[in-house]
Amino acid sequence: MFGLQSLFGLKSYLGVDIGTTSIKVAEVVRSSNGAKLKNYGILETYTYLDRSNEALQTSSLKLIDTETATYLKLLMSRAGIKTDRVVASLPAFSAFTTLVELPAMPPEDLARTMQFQAKQYVPLPIAAVTLDWLKVGERIDENGAKKDQIFLIAILNEQINKYRKIFEAADLKLVAMEVEGISQARVFTAGVKEPVMIIDIGARSTGFSIAQNGFLKFTGQTDFAGGSLTQILASGLGVSTRKAEELKKQHGLTGGGATGELSTLIRPILDVIINEAKRIKNNYEDTYKEKVGLIVLAGGGSRLPGVANYISQQLDIVAEKGNPFKKVEYPPELTPLIEDLRTVLSTSIGLGLKSDL
Ligand SMILES: Nc1ncnc2c1ncn2[C@@H]1O[C@H](COP(=O)(O)OP(=O)(O)OP(=O)(O)O)[C@@H](O)[C@H]1O
Ligand SMILES: [Mg+2]
Repeated sequence: MFGLQSLFGLKSYLGVDIGTTSIKVAEVVRSSNGAKLKNYGILETYTYLDRSNEALQTSSLKLIDTETATYLKLLMSRAGIKTDRVVASLPAFSAFTTLVELPAMPPEDLARTMQFQAKQYVPLPIAAVTLDWLKVGERIDENGAKKDQIFLIAILNEQINKYRKIFEAADLKLVAMEVEGISQARVFTAGVKEPVMIIDIGARSTGFSIAQNGFLKFTGQTDFAGGSLTQILASGLGVSTRKAEELKKQHGLTGGGATGELSTLIRPILDVIINEAKRIKNNYEDTYKEKVGLIVLAGGGSRLPGVANYISQQLDIVAEKGNPFKKVEYPPELTPLIEDLRTVLSTSIGLGLKSDL
């Protein structure tokens, strides 16, 4: 009679992260002893390099849903994934989020207050969004009053319906959805007392999140990202976007001699991203009187050679590549790949770890 209890307690979920250029899925098995990555799949499309309107995820929400569903099915069968319970991430641009400080009150009162107050904070028609909120911290303000910090999320109904359709068409059960920054906050900052800034450098956009103790508190975004780096290299060097993409991945900021020109072209774009990070960090620190103590990098762009060092120098804070495997086990045969997978799978793994399912 060993292990039966925990066997029954096993639950697996599929975290699905649909980005502009790729779909990343992670099958996470959870038990009372912790969590384990059972399987994963990544499907990248390169067509966006040539035609930007073929991106999987577009801010205009005009994505051809059936195509994404087809890609998902393909990915599932290739990876041999059987779990059909999905937790999906919503792109940052489809949600409005804000941190609201309210006098401490019981949850029932908070629910009533938020129903009334939310429209005051959300700059979108209330009928077009679904609201959610979560207590993420508390603070004694300048006047000595105890405040609850409530993270308010408004998601476009259009986006929610779109996701429902995609997963239905892919024969998957959508159990929950959350904004991508929330999953990253969970996976990178659970148990971390000081505020951490997560910089997710994707293809189309870079997301900034300030998180603490596993909770997302503050977000920002810029359209300068991995794709902008490729574009500047292509035009600056007079090469095709595919060639530029290859050079970027190979040399990044670490090139010397003939490839030194790459860093000269890349740096100004990274500086725009870094300046935005500074602005968000200063804004947070001034408002909440707490210093950001660490930068964690995520997304495919965080694999740019030399980027962690450069960001760390410019912001004068330690910057490291995120590691979702600190608390999540993985099959030993993945060991040689883990270095490449850690930043890419962070959102999907974070989704698979969502607790209130
Ligand atoms: N080794 C590498 N060096 C530099 N950049 C890389 C590397 N590997 C991937 N990238 C870049 O990462 C980007 C893709 O990252 P990611 O998969 O996180 O994006 P996405 O989630 O699809 O996009 P988005 O978050 O903007 O919707 C591309 O711009 C790609 O060029
Ligand atoms: Mg992404």
